[in-house]
Amino acid sequence: MPRAVIQGIGHAVPEGRLTNADLERMVDTNDEWIRQRTGIVERRISGPGETTSMLATAAAKEALQNSGVAASELELVICGTVTGDMSFPSVSCLVQDAIGASHAGAYDVGAACAGFIYSLASATAMIESGTMRKVLVIGADTLTKVVDFTDRSTCVLFGDGGGAVVLAAEENTDRGVIKTVLLSDGSGAKHIFVEAGGTRHPMHDPASQGYRSTIFMAGAEVYRFAVKAMGDACCRVLDLAGMDASQVDLFVPHQANLRIITSAAQRLNLPDEKVFLNVQNYGNTSGGSIPLGLYEAVQSGRLKKGMVVMTVGFGAGLVWGANLIRW
Ligand code: ACO
Repeated sequence: MPRAVIQGIGHAVPEGRLTNADLERMVDTNDEWIRQRTGIVERRISGPGETTSMLATAAAKEALQNSGVAASELELVICGTVTGDMSFPSVSCLVQDAIGASHAGAYDVGAACAGFIYSLASATAMIESGTMRKVLVIGADTLTKVVDFTDRSTCVLFGDGGGAVVLAAEENTDRGVIKTVLLSDGSGAKHIFVEAGGTRHPMHDPASQGYRSTIFMAGAEVYRFAVKAMGDACCRVLDLAGMDASQVDLFVPHQANLRIITSAAQRLNLPDEKVFLNVQNYGNTSGGSIPLGLYEAVQSGRLKKGMVVMTVGFGAGLVWGANLIRW
């Protein structure tokens, strides 16, 4: 069976920065509360006209350059996102055109903050089954476009960003995606959602007035779920691979909240030096979070060829999952 091996990685974040000090001027909050409860210090925020597909395209171009793969060689573009430029077409189709991937199919995966994990799983299955040999996988979101900047309980949490990897089929190697776990519980849909703009409350329908087109989140419920889900998904993916946490060289979790990451790392007995963190710089970038983390881990020399990296994420759905990869 061919293995799905990561050939190159790219990233993109907007120039705009939003610090805790900026937020202090916008809502009744303070730097100390935000740092203590979330670990976030600043986030990147897209400006007017800056869209998810722009970040996704920039990340894709860098990933292609770093991988030595030409856009014309790609057979598929998958983008994990819940903040498409439009309801349709997909972000991945806009990227396909922008990079000139003239022989590729394209679709989006709607798994919120687990979007990259789900997308990587889809691409891996395509490659391992022999259906495709070169696939571009992106995770990108601009959640600040759907944040209510008068709601202190959500506006401090989110930022914009994206990352991308090029996967290619390789034979006779132990590198590549080892195992993946994907899980969901739709009964938790009520804990985090954007209710207006879909088919339940269409934007143009006067009856939709009063419904929010910004994020609602029951923070405490999502927090409790996340702490359990992160640990459970990691244990399960390790079990599937017949490995234990001590064999993981680097843990790159979804960067939503420092306390959630710390509790998952403690459950797995992972020392600090194996836990990658950049939540302080970006906040929760949803589908962008994990590939952005992987990118910075590579750039800083913490993630090298042959190392075992474990990713884990959770988000609106509710969905959660984990990938185990030999880099
Ligand atoms: N500044 C100051 N005070 C605040 C703020 C703020 N920004 N936000 C809330 N508070 C207040 C609350 O009003 C509350 O006050 P009260 O006790 O007087 O009512 C108090 O702080 C404590 O609120 P809690 O909700 O108990 O705070 P908690 O410790 O749970 O932290 C947080 C809140 C950070 C939101 C946490 O619940 C969390 O991280 N939840 C998970 C969020 C998440 O990871 N979402 C990911 C999914 S996103 C996706 O899929 C797109």
